[in-house]
Amino acid sequence: MRDTIWLYPGTFDPVTYGHIDIIERAAKMCGKLVVAILNNEEKSPLFSIDERVNMINKALAGIENVEVKAFSGLQADFFREEHADAVVRGIRNAKDYEYELTIGRTNQMLNPDFEMVILTNDIRYSYVSSSSVRTIASYGGDISKFVPLFIEEMIKEKYKESYR
Ligand code: COA
Repeated sequence: MRDTIWLYPGTFDPVTYGHIDIIERAAKMCGKLVVAILNNEEKSPLFSIDERVNMINKALAGIENVEVKAFSGLQADFFREEHADAVVRGIRNAKDYEYELTIGRTNQMLNPDFEMVILTNDIRYSYVSSSSVRTIASYGGDISKFVPLFIEEMIKEKYKESYR
């Protein structure tokens, strides 16, 4: 396992403690973990791709075998480009599991070498999602339990009208 390359794809708008938990645990199990941020400007993300790359790099400072990269297009193609051995997914509940199984099997149809590793979420972050963090912030709510302090400050800057 130590010389394997795993990919952890997502939008990470923003990265939350739920994602960071999966990244820290996955990084212990593989040789290199590539955090792959989907660059999809059609979704009008709160944070630009560069902001998300920098944010994740800062949140993960100190973990040597993690690399942060942006990708666009299909996950199955990026998997091939990166010579990855597996994609890692974190699941929070049965609904996530069903969703991941469907997407994972679709990716296997696109790339027969595609493999998936599923990690269960830390129970503390079972209800966290990036959009719920954005929604809470848009109403000036407390997001300190969901993201590290420096990310909380970056989000509050985006919603500064709500935090007046
Ligand atoms: N802890 C906390 N939250 C988590 C989590 C975890 N461990 N895992 C997922 N989430 C959250 C995410 O933040 C996201 O929240 P949001 O919907 O509020 O933004 C939500 O749960 C869904 O997560 P996920 O399924 O990972 O969606 P995503 O948008 O972050 O990432 C991609 C989706 C990028 C992996 C996927 O769309 C992709 O690869 N697209 C490229 C096209 C492709 O190849 N598609 C597959 C073939 S059809």
